[in-house]
Amino acid sequence: MIDYHAHILPGVDDGAADTAEALAIAAILSDAGFTDVHCTPHRMRGSYDAPPCRIRQAVEELREAVDAARIPLRLHVGSEYYGDEYLTTLLDTPLPLGDSSLILMEAPLQASSSLLRSTAFQVVCRGFSPLIAHPERCAILGSSGRGDAGARSFLGTVLKLAHAGLGSCRRKETEPELSGMLRSMGCLFQGNLGSFAGIYGERVRRQALRNLRAGLYDCLGTDVHTARGLGDWLPRALREVESIVGAQGMKELLSPAAAAPSPSLCTAAFR
Ligand SMILES: [Fe+2]
Repeated sequence: MIDYHAHILPGVDDGAADTAEALAIAAILSDAGFTDVHCTPHRMRGSYDAPPCRIRQAVEELREAVDAARIPLRLHVGSEYYGDEYLTTLLDTPLPLGDSSLILMEAPLQASSSLLRSTAFQVVCRGFSPLIAHPERCAILGSSGRGDAGARSFLGTVLKLAHAGLGSCRRKETEPELSGMLRSMGCLFQGNLGSFAGIYGERVRRQALRNLRAGLYDCLGTDVHTARGLGDWLPRALREVESIVGAQGMKELLSPAAAAPSPSLCTAAFR
């Protein structure tokens, strides 16, 4: 199982406080069945400015600690980019997830749909696939099954964006229209496991369930920041997801490259 989103690196952002807490997180993830974790500290201009070389070094140091503790967990580099107007400047020295072309991208909680579309479009133009983190936590994003996205062509989206001037839109898209449009641009979606366990509240839990049933998610992650409570909510979240999509569905969301794969994730991210 692969965790696509984790703030496990100690001392880099607001995640694990020190190596001891990082190892506690690693042990809980391993016990839950995870074999691989993408270490994704925040990258946000002015708040979290750790450069890629610092993140790579932190991953290497934690790898050594995890190996020494005999925890069977593979760590991969990554970042969680804040999806504001500065994101593309940070891509001059990009840090995608592992060997993929995925750029994990957090939509600002109060982002406008035009900012989100514009930022994602620029990420695509730089040759990456935006992986939208926890859409269930973003008020402007709802669920749209993959079938909706297929109805729109990439060219059509480009033309629509160009017509809208990349910054203004004559009318506000409905939630499914926005997520469908993002998917047609090449965006993928990562759900937070904690959302299914209700750790962000009932509204987010309900939205996550709607997204899951609609087939919005390409993969899942813990977005873990601390070991506190993780051993409680993670098993509950996994049980909740499995109860809805079944064992095979959960396998495809947690091991999308190895299991009967999600075509979009494989072709976009692991080409
Ligand atoms: Fe995160």
